Amino acid sequence: MSQPNEGQDRLDYQETADITEVHASILREHAEPVANSMPIPTWLGVLCAGALCWAGVYVGLFNGGFSSKIYNEYESSPAAFFPLPGGQQKGGGEVAEMPLLAFGEKVYGNRCVACHQASGLGGNGVPPLVGSEWVDGSEYGEKRMVALILKGMQGPVTVKGVSYNALMPNWDGLKDREIAGVITYIRQAWGNKGTGEITEAQVKAAKKEFMSQAGAWKVEQLKAIPTDAKLDGGGAAKADAPKAAAPVADVPKADAPKAAEPTPGAGSFDLAASIAAGKTVYMQTCLACHQPTGMGIPGAFPPLAATEFVNVDQRRLVAITLKGIQGPLKVNGVAYAAAMPNLELTYPLLKDDKNVADVLNYVRNNFTNKNDAPITPDLVGKVRKEFAERAAQWTEQELLNFPPAK
Ligand code: HEC
Ligand code: HEC
Repeated sequence: MSQPNEGQDRLDYQETADITEVHASILREHAEPVANSMPIPTWLGVLCAGALCWAGVYVGLFNGGFSSKIYNEYESSPAAFFPLPGGQQKGGGEVAEMPLLAFGEKVYGNRCVACHQASGLGGNGVPPLVGSEWVDGSEYGEKRMVALILKGMQGPVTVKGVSYNALMPNWDGLKDREIAGVITYIRQAWGNKGTGEITEAQVKAAKKEFMSQAGAWKVEQLKAIPTDAKLDGGGAAKADAPKAAAPVADVPKADAPKAAEPTPGAGSFDLAASIAAGKTVYMQTCLACHQPTGMGIPGAFPPLAATEFVNVDQRRLVAITLKGIQGPLKVNGVAYAAAMPNLELTYPLLKDDKNVADVLNYVRNNFTNKNDAPITPDLVGKVRKEFAERAAQWTEQELLNFPPAK
């Protein structure tokens, strides 16, 4: 009998593999972890140090003084944009250091350009500033101009022969320097020949003087400010302002006794009733040419608003209405060439003295006109009689030298 297990049991004790060899191969395949224990590679350290050095040098060289205005091109060096007189260089200057004229151009671009256009030529019912008599001609006055810009104006106004009837807004909310600048600018831009500057002090003085002016100026009010009136901050010219309100109405008031004297019953004349009755007559006799607005038609029929022929001499106005006008006639600076017919002959309605008086009282108290002194039927009768022999229409010469009442 053999013992088969005997030899096998022995094998367990005769190991041939060395334990350390087995461990070595395991070690080879799974290296020990080395996290958090390795130094930064040298090349990376050098790169970082280099970048830091470069950044430091860059900021040192190009910091711009760490100024907040460094990227605002104008403010960082205004001299480059608007050279200061005498070559002064003022880095980081304020806008107020901009010369007044250049500053005014900016204000114009912000505030006025929408209506008056960059060209200053206006359009769409807005008058031009280029060659305008108001900006740079017969109607210009230092004080008048500042008043106009501060408070605005309402039509009708004639600029370069064209009538405008709109509203120019008021600008008294702008700073003194803005007003001074924009006026100085429009006086010199586009070939306008205005010289010198309007100063901040002048604007300040005007703001004070015209403080009580409510609403936009009427043209007559502006015209009542003399063109040679100066602005210096003194209150000497203060008396102008209230008077300015009704210059047109003042003139006929002085006329009133003259007209009323030879006309008994004028004292109790009912002006309001006459004006109301005159409206119907106007619709039938004047409206076709002078228009419902009394503004006429530019280039053809003159306005009846704020004209000297309507508001000054009562006798002359009656005479015009009866006989008409021939040849050229200048009305508020604008020349008209069409003729106004002899209405006495054209409209039977106007053979009645009362109708003539009524229509004229209506005209003289509408379209911005205001005249307390009435035109009476008696006056119309007298004028009609005085010129009864006359058939011809009046000429401009005759009207300008109209004879006083006999
Ligand atoms: C909303 C439109 C509008 C704006 C904005 C405006 N205007 Fe006017 N302006 C007018 C109108 C309309 C008239 C004419 C008013 C009238 O018909 O009575 C006028 C009239 C004038 C006049 C007098 C008439 C002439 O042509 O000479 C002057 C000067 C003037 N404007 C200057 C200015 C200035 C300066 C500014 C900017 C601060 C300005 N305007 C901004 C509409 C405007
Ligand atoms: C057929 C057209 C026509 C009719 C109708 C007419 N007018 Fe005229 N009117 C004119 C013309 C044109 C002129 C300018 C005359 C000229 O250029 O010589 C004028 C000028 C005037 C003037 C002087 C200028 C001015 O504008 O102040 C007065 C005042 C006037 N008319 C008042 C009247 C009254 C009042 C009536 C109605 C009772 C009337 N007119 C009817 C065409 C007319």
